[in-house]
Amino acid sequence: MNFELSEEHLAVRDAARDFAQNVLKPGVIERDNAQRFPAEEIKQLGELGFMGMMVDPKYGGGGMDTMSYVLAMEEISKIDASASVCMSVNNSLVCWGLETFGTEEQKQKYLVPLAKGEIIGAFCLSEPEAGSDATSQRTKAIDKGDHYVLNGTKNWITNGSSASVYLVIAQTDVEKGHKGINALIVERGMEGFIVGAKEDKMGIRGSDTHTLLFNDVKVPKENRIGEDGFGFKFAMKTLSGGRIGIAAQALGIAAGAYELALAYSKERKAFGKEISKHQAIAFKLADMAVDIETARLLVHKAAWHKDNGMNYDLSGAMAKLHASSVAMKHTVEAVQIHGGYGFVKEYHVERLMRDAKITQIYEGTSEVQKIVISRSILAE
Ligand code: CAA
Repeated sequence: MNFELSEEHLAVRDAARDFAQNVLKPGVIERDNAQRFPAEEIKQLGELGFMGMMVDPKYGGGGMDTMSYVLAMEEISKIDASASVCMSVNNSLVCWGLETFGTEEQKQKYLVPLAKGEIIGAFCLSEPEAGSDATSQRTKAIDKGDHYVLNGTKNWITNGSSASVYLVIAQTDVEKGHKGINALIVERGMEGFIVGAKEDKMGIRGSDTHTLLFNDVKVPKENRIGEDGFGFKFAMKTLSGGRIGIAAQALGIAAGAYELALAYSKERKAFGKEISKHQAIAFKLADMAVDIETARLLVHKAAWHKDNGMNYDLSGAMAKLHASSVAMKHTVEAVQIHGGYGFVKEYHVERLMRDAKITQIYEGTSEVQKIVISRSILAE
């Protein structure tokens, strides 16, 4: 077993770190305050090849492995989790889903510009009454021969107003339950497709999260992904990989807060010495370091499973469950170490604390990860 990162991995990590520090950091507080999507910054991420990192170069991607992707996700998320969720959805859900299950025509038409970062994609599963219980899709895709007619509402959709391509999960045949669900590619601008209200969120405020409305949207049959009825499995398989990306995001949020707290604790003096020399703070830093390292090992293991063609449903769920819990716990501790400064925006840790919470909710809540993990270990 080799825990050393290769030269290529280190280069990707350093490029992502430079980008985060030099491009994302200067405006991150302002974007969070204004709830402003990092459009220009995402365009630059695309030019660097970070929006379709794992896609085959023949489809415009970077041809990199999952390990490179999680290293980049960690660095971007240390600084700007709003940018990294956009990157994660585009890479792990939209590009991966299309590359793995799309037709050649779908790949040429949609995957190529998505992988190059020329356009952004969105993944539309959640509904007002179908969050964790993803089989209960109310959005209907009625089969009309050469097309589907799509009606319904999707909620909390990341990249809601910035995307050009939407992968929409909808029920075609209620009688068949989850086997009657389809995944359809919907284009921005299709008649009857409306981008609804933007959410005013606690965290990842720079990412644009919207309700989407579909009113008799005519979607050609060639825009269905996979065979008839494959939509639910498509969503589950895609989300399994997505969870590795969100685990890396949670890891980055935790590590970003830790790095800030560590640096601050070496500068700030109280009771005649740096606060890092007080055991109350040193022990917090020790706990943070251990938890973050265990989260990193789980994230890297899940990425390694994916890169080696092994099943990653369990390791991805474990990585996400643990890393998101570490992110929540230790961003709170990072604020505590900063004292009053931690409570103001200028010091970044309060934003990381707010951003951490969503990692326990999206792409499957912590409870959903426990369903996946417990079913897996009980089946052994
Ligand atoms: N790979 C392949 N197939 C899978 C699978 C996987 N990982 N997980 C489940 N399936 C299959 C099952 O084998 C089963 O198929 P068969 O009947 O043919 O055997 C079928 O799917 C149904 O599976 P379950 O009976 O296990 O389904 P369930 O109703 O009990 O639900 C669940 C399981 C894990 C809770 C699932 O519903 C789930 O993951 N829910 C959470 C959904 C989620 O993550 N939503 C996030 C929204 S997207 C998002 O957040 C993106 C963003 O914007 C950031």
